Amino acid sequence: MIVMKDIVREGHPALRKKAEEMTFPLSTEELKLCDDLLAYLKNSHDPAISEKYNLRPGVGLAAPQVNVSKRAFALHITESKGDPLSFIAINPKIISHSVEKTYLTSGEGCLSVDRNVEGFVPRYSRITIKAFDKDGNEFKKRLRGLAAIAFQHELDHLNGIMFYDHIDKNEPFKEIPGAIPFDRT
Ligand code: NI
Repeated sequence: MIVMKDIVREGHPALRKKAEEMTFPLSTEELKLCDDLLAYLKNSHDPAISEKYNLRPGVGLAAPQVNVSKRAFALHITESKGDPLSFIAINPKIISHSVEKTYLTSGEGCLSVDRNVEGFVPRYSRITIKAFDKDGNEFKKRLRGLAAIAFQHELDHLNGIMFYDHIDKNEPFKEIPGAIPFDRT
């Protein structure tokens, strides 16, 4: 299973590389990686397991964060605000998005970042995505709220982008024109 020591932190080159497309069928190792990414997120929300293994809770984890430069990530969102969802996305793409933007009022965090980085991270409010599951079946979803934000955060990881790259350096809490704030609590 993946624990915190398996997750690479900012400064590691894997987080700045463009990850490679995956080809189907996935290898046994790649299938295990996908399962492990999602299992980490589920475990991190289980009070007993997360305490035992000292897991930081997360809603998304991308392959580059465990030093595998491949285009795959897991999302696992159970918060009552917004649609609950749990899936693995391989070779994911955003095929369309709203003009409207959003941002988390509390800012974003990342399992690869051990410090609190303040500021608003502009994201599209609604996105339509397509990706493949681990068996190679293509699927399409419409996401909004936290799910849309988390998907964009994870997709960035596959392109070597960190959430704080999007924060205005001089004015981290600068108003984002036309954006609807998303309050996670
Ligand atoms: Ni992250």
